[in-house]
Amino acid sequence: MKFISFLLITSFILFFSCSPKTTPTTSVPKLSTEAAAGMVIYTAKCGRCHELKKVDNYTAAEWVPILDAMAPKAKLDSTEKANVHAYVQAFAKAG
Ligand code: HEC
Repeated sequence: MKFISFLLITSFILFFSCSPKTTPTTSVPKLSTEAAAGMVIYTAKCGRCHELKKVDNYTAAEWVPILDAMAPKAKLDSTEKANVHAYVQAFAKAG
């Protein structure tokens, strides 16, 4: 009985010491603080009147007048608007 528990514990330790280490991923692009905050604001405030629009449906240039029109609708203050701007610019359609 003692030997069996010894085996169990040993295999337990071996199993976990051999499991792959989780290394931090470096491939995910890091969002700026502004863009990260903008993403939260976007999700919270931009899907109230219509569904959340896909950010990459529009180019960075197309987003500028859209945001000018939508920021007052969503009652964003200038900081929130700048953050949402950073977010949509980060994920806008190429072009
Ligand atoms: C008070 C209501 C309201 C809020 C809040 C709002 N929108 Fe809109 N939005 C509209 C209306 C109305 C339209 C035009 C009809 C449609 O496309 O659904 C529109 C259209 C859009 C379009 C399509 C524009 C085009 O030319 O194709 C985008 C993109 C958009 N909104 C983004 C946003 C974003 C980003 C926010 C948050 C900052 C936001 N909206 C918040 C009412 C709102």
